Amino acid sequence: MYNTLITNLESGIFTITINRPDKLNALNRDVFTDLENAIQETYIKAEIKSVIITGAGPKAFVAGADIAEFGGLDKEQAMALAKRGQDIFFKIENSKKPIVAAVNGFALGGGCELAMACHFRLCSTNAKFGQPEVNLGLIPGYGGTQRLTQLVGKSKSMELQMTARLVDANEALQMGLVNYVTSPEILLDQTKDMLHVIMSKAPIAIGKIIECVNVAVVSDSAYTNGKSGYDKEIEAFGDCFVTEDMKEGTTAFLEKRKAEFKGC
Ligand code: COA
Repeated sequence: MYNTLITNLESGIFTITINRPDKLNALNRDVFTDLENAIQETYIKAEIKSVIITGAGPKAFVAGADIAEFGGLDKEQAMALAKRGQDIFFKIENSKKPIVAAVNGFALGGGCELAMACHFRLCSTNAKFGQPEVNLGLIPGYGGTQRLTQLVGKSKSMELQMTARLVDANEALQMGLVNYVTSPEILLDQTKDMLHVIMSKAPIAIGKIIECVNVAVVSDSAYTNGKSGYDKEIEAFGDCFVTEDMKEGTTAFLEKRKAEFKGC
């Protein structure tokens, strides 16, 4: 169905595998188009409950934007490219269904930015993260200057972008860039196990958590609709209160049984 992705839906988990292993899954125009459409699928298909983004082959998650497509771009075209990348990554970040990156190797440049746009990240022991754009006389353009700073703090973010140094899985874990490190063989299974836990909770509440946490870390008031995170939380709390799932969750607790959530 997609030229540059392999997609698979199983038990509510939609796995999107970026599939250009001979180019270390670099993000070219076709990957962007396919990725945008695949994320759109997750927005509209009720049978998709959560998403994993990963890379094909043993070596790379995504080794960056496709450098071969940079040649000859003028300033306007370069800005349009950055805007396109940012828009697609916002769409990932703002999905009401959880989207998790399973980082199975190099996550460099746009690859690191893609992983950071996901709601959280697991990685394998062979993962390497970095924003090496400065080696090309560039800076990150798909949200990396912002999201890396949100995730690891200003000093580390400055250092990593200025030096182009790559960090291994353990350092990424220490920095809070990833939540867990696993062996490559069990990365996908461990990610799926976590998603099954999340999918057993109330989907509307999960979506509200994503919305509120996103507001806590973004500075763009257009993006937050002018609302503070606290305002947003009050509204989202109220929204959850009138769901069937809230009635089911509280009733199940009082009846000492497991809640059966329906997403309404
Ligand atoms: N854009 C386009 N092609 C890329 C790419 C990228 N970001 N990253 C890797 N590739 C291609 C290589 O050109 C090579 O293609 P070829 O076999 O047709 O020559 C292929 O993927 C394999 O990469 P190679 O460099 O041979 O693998 P390696 O193991 O020696 O090195 C990396 C791995 C990740 C260290 C190296 O590929 C690299 O530095 N990539 C660019 C990272 C980067 O700067 N990303 C930010 C872009 S803004």
